[in-house]
Amino acid sequence: MSEYENVGVSIRSVSKRYGNTLALDDITLDIEPGEFVSLLGPSGSGKTTLLGALGGFVMPSSGSVWIGDQDVTYMPPHKRNIGVVFQSYALFPHMTVGENVAFPLRARRLPKSTWPERVRQALAMVELEGYQDRGISQLSGGQRQRVALARAMVFEPRLILMDEPLSALDKQLRETMQIELRQLHRKLGATIVYVTHDQREALTMSDRVAILKDGKLVQIGAPETLHNDPKDSFVASFIGDSTLLPVTRVDAHSVKLGKFTLHSARPVSTHPELLLAVQTEKLLIDDERHEAGVNRLNCRVREVVYQGDSLRLFLELEDGTHISLRQPSHHLGQQKIPPIGESLTVVLHPEDTIIVPRAGCQYPAANVA
Ligand SMILES: Nc1ncnc2c1ncn2[C@@H]1O[C@H](COP(=O)(O)OP(=O)(O)OP(=O)(O)O)[C@@H](O)[C@H]1O
Ligand SMILES: [Mg+2]
Repeated sequence: MSEYENVGVSIRSVSKRYGNTLALDDITLDIEPGEFVSLLGPSGSGKTTLLGALGGFVMPSSGSVWIGDQDVTYMPPHKRNIGVVFQSYALFPHMTVGENVAFPLRARRLPKSTWPERVRQALAMVELEGYQDRGISQLSGGQRQRVALARAMVFEPRLILMDEPLSALDKQLRETMQIELRQLHRKLGATIVYVTHDQREALTMSDRVAILKDGKLVQIGAPETLHNDPKDSFVASFIGDSTLLPVTRVDAHSVKLGKFTLHSARPVSTHPELLLAVQTEKLLIDDERHEAGVNRLNCRVREVVYQGDSLRLFLELEDGTHISLRQPSHHLGQQKIPPIGESLTVVLHPEDTIIVPRAGCQYPAANVA
């Protein structure tokens, strides 16, 4: 199955209204051929609706959807040549694995003589060779998931859409499947649009992540971009494990957090309401090996919690502000674990000092540095 015809996708000013609900609000998004893009956002933000507009299950109220150079806005789903994996897998329980995987070939009336080889190849792709004759009820959750994937790929679609495909699996299987899906994507080279509300999953798997909120596209970017350069406090709170603290601008590269002056490597916006987004893993205990020029904060230890492979410290800054930090526990093993009540200095590198405008606060974009 190497002859995948890679196509890009273009969503142009798509809106979808259900009565008074604007499920999609003027979304424009281009996806490159072969790209893996995740749609990430809270419940009700429009992820499934946007995927539906791509798949042909949702008719936009306005705007257009393009696959390659074809306007597919009004094309029915079965003509779009798209593989779809639904959240519930939607396998046919009364059919065998082989019959399930062959179903799209039957539906597309492809020559019956080609089915066995295609089914064999699709099952090999998801490492389920020899499972053709099994019943669906005789499979584990992860195996069912792989059958659903094989069924979505068997007719060599130009685009694969997946809606929370791993949400029913337990954590361990989910992580295994994430890696398998990534490898599969590399092998196939197909364009994939993947819906999830799990930020870690989105960041693990995707070339780019699109953040949705209230039917709007807030930001799209590579995982590092979203981490290091979130557009506003909504994106910052959604990506990584961060605390948002109000700060005031001092100049183009510094802000005031209570009595502390912090330096940021990136230009500080002139937006009137700014927040420091501190990611728990970016705060480091000062062991005096850190160079000059880093930000130092004096605080007191409130609580120390082991979380398996990491250790979480809950801290209080001198002005009473609460923050927390997380360090790998093996790393801390060489250091003295600070007792509760102890004073401590933590370090935040200017590169990791991320200042964002408060989301939803209207301010002319032109004034934002
Ligand atoms: N068929 C429908 N009729 C009316 N409203 C709908 C319909 N489908 C979706 N909506 C509304 O559109 C908005 C977006 O829904 P959507 O299913 O796209 O959200 P989602 O991001 O997929 O959420 P979740 O994470 O809960 O699956 C929601 O407010 C939802 O109630
Ligand atoms: Mg959904």
